[in-house]
Amino acid sequence: MILATEPQGQIFQATPPPASWQLPPAMSDTAGPVDSTYNFIFWFSVVFLVVITAAMMYFVVKYKRKKGVKSEPTGHFNRLEIFWTVTPTIFIGFLFHAGYSSYIRNATASEGATEIRVRAKKWSWEFEYPSGDRAPGELTLEVGRPYKMIISSEDVLHSFFIPEFRLKRDAVPGQYSFIAFTPTVAGNAQVFCAEYCGTTHSGMLASVKVLPHKEYEEWAKTLGKCVGTPEECKPEKYGESLFTKNACTTCHGVGGSGQIGGSKSPGPKLAGIYNTMQPMATGPGVMADENYIRESILRPNAKIVAGYTTVQMPAFVIKDEQLDAIIAYLKSLK
Ligand code: CUA
Repeated sequence: MILATEPQGQIFQATPPPASWQLPPAMSDTAGPVDSTYNFIFWFSVVFLVVITAAMMYFVVKYKRKKGVKSEPTGHFNRLEIFWTVTPTIFIGFLFHAGYSSYIRNATASEGATEIRVRAKKWSWEFEYPSGDRAPGELTLEVGRPYKMIISSEDVLHSFFIPEFRLKRDAVPGQYSFIAFTPTVAGNAQVFCAEYCGTTHSGMLASVKVLPHKEYEEWAKTLGKCVGTPEECKPEKYGESLFTKNACTTCHGVGGSGQIGGSKSPGPKLAGIYNTMQPMATGPGVMADENYIRESILRPNAKIVAGYTTVQMPAFVIKDEQLDAIIAYLKSLK
């Protein structure tokens, strides 16, 4: 294991520790207390399962019905009753304390923590950095830097879950929820949605990259711009990557049939619609030109395609340059 010194002067591991047989690698300062509580509960349960099952089997054999022996009702034994009421209560109090103090610690940010806004919507994650730049589907962090995530939802209940950080917090419409942590190891992790939120709940993912200081600074310069070869940064290609990162693919099939995985997709089909009349749910049809596509991304509910009134696409905030790239990509779909 290589150790690296980060700007704050603390020592951080450069490679993630291996996963244990039950838990993924621990990559943040919040993982330690959660893991020790989890391990305590797990082994506590194993020990009691074994002890109680063994005692039960022993008594079943010892006290099985025998000829000539009559059963006697057991009496009341106050001291025993007090013992088996008080002892578990003390243990439960201890477990509650361990869980609750972790919960409070994970919700309280240290002073000067970098704030990142996490926006959940059906079915994607968007991250907004202090610079105001937004990155869909990709959370990039610096190792050793304290963070505060301000989580909100634009539609229904979602839950922000990063197993490697041992963090999970609901994204509740109409309010903010918080989690605070410091990544301790450089490496990759994964955001999941841990609250069932509809058709493509399981596809509501985002990647997490924890970078060492230098690489993080390099990355920060590229935020909101296309990163890649000139070929990859042609409008069509850049648009395709933005389309995927914004998780548009969770609702729109890009093939000619507009299906996803062989069934009707939640959103209308996009291939081949450019410069054709689109039937609207109300009023006359609309020509699918650049302005129509732009409006459909920024204000999706302004014009709704016939047959899709029950689906509520969330609005996206996207820079002009990126919008142009996405439009170029959609025009290229046949
Ligand atoms: Cu969002 Cu499940």
